[in-house]
Amino acid sequence: MSDSWTTSGIDLHVEMKGLGRRRALEAALREAIADGRLPAGTRLPSSRNLAVDVGVARNTVVDVYTQLTAEGWLRARRGAATIVDDRPAAAAPAAAAPAAAAPADSRESWRYDLRPGRPDVSSFPRSAWLAASRRAWNKASDADLDYGDPRGAIQLRAVLTGYLGRARGVRTHPSRIVVCSGFTQAFSLLCHALRQQGASSVAVESYGHPQLRPIAAGAGLGAITAPLDEEGADLASGRGADAAVVTPAHQFPLGRVMSASRRHATLAWARAHGAVIVEDDYDGEFRYDRDPLGALQGLDPDRVVYVGTASKTLAPGLRLAWLVLPEYLAQPVVDVKILADRQTGILEQLTLAEFIASGAYDRHVRRRRLAYRHRRDRLVGALGTGPVQGVSAGLHALVTLADGMAEEDAVVAAAPHGLALEGLDAYRAGPASRPPALVVGYATPPEHAYEKALSILAKLLAVTPARS
Ligand SMILES: Cc1ncc(COP(=O)(O)O)c(C=O)c1O
Repeated sequence: MSDSWTTSGIDLHVEMKGLGRRRALEAALREAIADGRLPAGTRLPSSRNLAVDVGVARNTVVDVYTQLTAEGWLRARRGAATIVDDRPAAAAPAAAAPAAAAPADSRESWRYDLRPGRPDVSSFPRSAWLAASRRAWNKASDADLDYGDPRGAIQLRAVLTGYLGRARGVRTHPSRIVVCSGFTQAFSLLCHALRQQGASSVAVESYGHPQLRPIAAGAGLGAITAPLDEEGADLASGRGADAAVVTPAHQFPLGRVMSASRRHATLAWARAHGAVIVEDDYDGEFRYDRDPLGALQGLDPDRVVYVGTASKTLAPGLRLAWLVLPEYLAQPVVDVKILADRQTGILEQLTLAEFIASGAYDRHVRRRRLAYRHRRDRLVGALGTGPVQGVSAGLHALVTLADGMAEEDAVVAAAPHGLALEGLDAYRAGPASRPPALVVGYATPPEHAYEKALSILAKLLAVTPARS
C-alpha cells in the first residue's frame, strides 16, 4: 500500500509495506530520512494532519514520532513542529555522499570562458521561446503527445524543409529529415546505419570535433585522417573511407571556409569512391563579411548528408538537431533511431517549429549574428589582426601564439585569472601540422564579462613566458 502526504504541505510518497499500519509508517519514515528524501531540518506535519493523510489513527502517528525521536531520527520541540534530526541523515550514505563531481567540461567555475563550442546562452530568447511553447501546447493534439513518427514531428520537419532551403540552400523533403538529440546523436545514428550498410571507415579532418572518432568507433567504424590545407579538407588520401565528415562553412576549429574548387573536389571524391559526405553545418548561420555560403548538400543531395543543430543558434541544452538524408539512407537511419530512443522529445520540437514559422528564429539569428560579429571585431581589436585567423564566420577564431609560447602555458597562466582557454592540440586528430594556437570561443561569456575576458587574454598573450 502507498500513500502521499498532501494536507501537510510536504508531498512525500511513503511506501506502507504490509507490516501493519504503525510499523509500516515507522519504516517508511526511517527509510525516507536515511535516503535523504527527508533532509535534516525538514518540518514534519502535525500528527493530526499526517494521520488524515495516511489514514491511521492520530495516536499511531504520535507513537511513531515518539519512537523515531527516541531513536534519534527526529527531534521534538516544545510548542513547535517535530523536525528531522541531523545525525541519522548525515550518517546516511545517500544524504552524506559528496556532491557528484562536476562533469569534465563543467563551465560553472570559470568567471571568463573563452573556450569554443558554445553560444552566449544568456542571450537565449526566453520570452519568444515561451510564447512559441504556449502556441505549441495550444495547437498540439492528443495524438501529438503519443508515440509519434521516429523522424520527428511533421510540423518541425515541414518547417525545417522551408527554412533550410531558404537560409542554407539545402534541397530536401520532410520525409528525408530525422530530428535528433544534437549533432552528437545524429552522427552516431548515421555511423551505425552506415556500418549496417557495410561501411568500415570514415574520414575525419585532421583537426576537428574530438568526439567524431570515438562515436565512429562506437559504431564499429575506423577513422582515417584527412589533411587540411588553405582550401579545406583534402580527401585525396582518404581512399579507403566510405564516408567523410567535413565542416565546409567554417572548418572546426581552424575557421577556414572550404573553397569552391575544394567543394567540387570533395563531391567528385565521394562519387568516385561511392562514399557519402557528412556536412556538419554547426554554425553555418553565422557568417559575417558576406552572405552565408550555401550548404554543400545543395550541390548533391544524393551524396551529402547534411546535419544542422540548434546548439549554436539557440542553446546546446535544447539537444535539437536535424539530419537531412539521401533517400537510400533515410530508412536505415530511422531504424537505428527507433532503437536508440524511439523519437526525440515532442514538446521542444513543436516549440521550435512554432519558433521558426513565426519568424522568431530568423530574428534571433540576425540579432545574434550582429552581436557575435561585434564580438569578433572586439577580439581582433584586442589582439590585432596578425595572430587572429578564421574570423569570417562562426563563434570562434584561431589565435596563433607568439614564437616560443606553448599552448599549455597559456592555458595554465590564464586559470588563476578565472579565464578558461583551450589549445588547438585538443582538437588534433592526426600528426601535429600547425603552430601552437588557441581556439578562442568569443560567444560564450555573457556581455558584461566579455571586455574583461579580452583584456586578460590580451595581457596574457603579451607576457606569458616561453616554455623552457
Ligand atoms: C564541430 C561541431 N559540430 C557540432 C557540434 C554540435 O554538437 P551538438 O549538436 O551535439 O550539441 C559542435 C559542438 O560543439 C561542434 O563543435
